[in-house]
Amino acid sequence: MAHVLILGGTRGIGRALAARHLERGCAVTVCGRHPEALQGWPMAGHPALRVLRLDIADPAAVHAVVAEAGETLDVLIVTAGQYFDTRDHALDEAATLHLLRTNVSGLASAFEAGARRMLAQGHGRMAAVSSMAGLLEDRPGASVYGATKRAVLALCATYRKALAPFGIPVTALVPGYVDTERLRELNGGDASHKPFLMSEASAATRMLAAIDRGVAVDAFPWQMRVAVSLLNLVPRLSRVPEFPAPAAPDNGAVKRPIGVPRDTQE
Ligand SMILES: NC(=O)c1ccc[n+]([C@@H]2O[C@H](COP(=O)([O-])OP(=O)(O)OC[C@H]3O[C@@H](n4cnc5c(N)ncnc54)[C@H](OP(=O)(O)O)[C@@H]3O)[C@@H](O)[C@H]2O)c1
Repeated sequence: MAHVLILGGTRGIGRALAARHLERGCAVTVCGRHPEALQGWPMAGHPALRVLRLDIADPAAVHAVVAEAGETLDVLIVTAGQYFDTRDHALDEAATLHLLRTNVSGLASAFEAGARRMLAQGHGRMAAVSSMAGLLEDRPGASVYGATKRAVLALCATYRKALAPFGIPVTALVPGYVDTERLRELNGGDASHKPFLMSEASAATRMLAAIDRGVAVDAFPWQMRVAVSLLNLVPRLSRVPEFPAPAAPDNGAVKRPIGVPRDTQE
């Protein structure tokens, strides 16, 4: 029986992916900081489901879980991710570091541990969830979240290239809006106004197919992909706030190269 490990499978997209894999007869291990979130989920008592408490921001714990969960590790999927309305968190160092540790460092630990195990056993496949925000180029209010999701794309591409010679595909999953509890929470309880909103189940079905086929990057739905491509065509100057032009130096003032202290230049 194939074993699928989902880091971030206690809610939302990860849990929907767990359901799809259980339905097709896989053994599934899901991890998250709050395993109790699975209480009341119809598949919570499934005999092929294992649940582990894990904070993906803890590298040692991630290495231990990825190295030891299941008899084999056939598929590793990383959906664990934090997102806020990031403009509320601008210049909030604690929130920024938390995002980076979860969305980027956590994924790096997971892929590193997954790659080691899959290379040792000689097979496997890995995937991680990025976001359309990661495909958007710079614009006013561009979020730290978007930066973390660009990093997810970069990590997927790097591991894909490194593991291709060993027949281990790595897939970047890039969904548009998915109607999860978290998205609803961020939208006052109702995310139905979000463009091209998908159900958790339809997003999971799409992701499963992409992982099966081992595609490099699957950005969907196509309408969101087109919308993001068009937004990226908007002229750069209208999107990036410019700093004011530097004031001209006073007559007679000596120009100092940046980084050179005053007393070393004369
Ligand atoms: N929903 C969307 O519209 C959408 C669109 C594009 C991309 N995404 C991305 O898709 C992923 C899942 O989104 P979602 O809407 O399903 O979110 P969600 O409902 O909040 O689920 C996030 C999952 O990640 C886990 N998680 C979060 N922080 C963790 C940590 N430090 N350690 C371990 N597990 C952690 C959560 O479990 P615990 O709480 O138990 O830790 C939960 O199982 C995220 O990466 C998100 O950025 C979502």
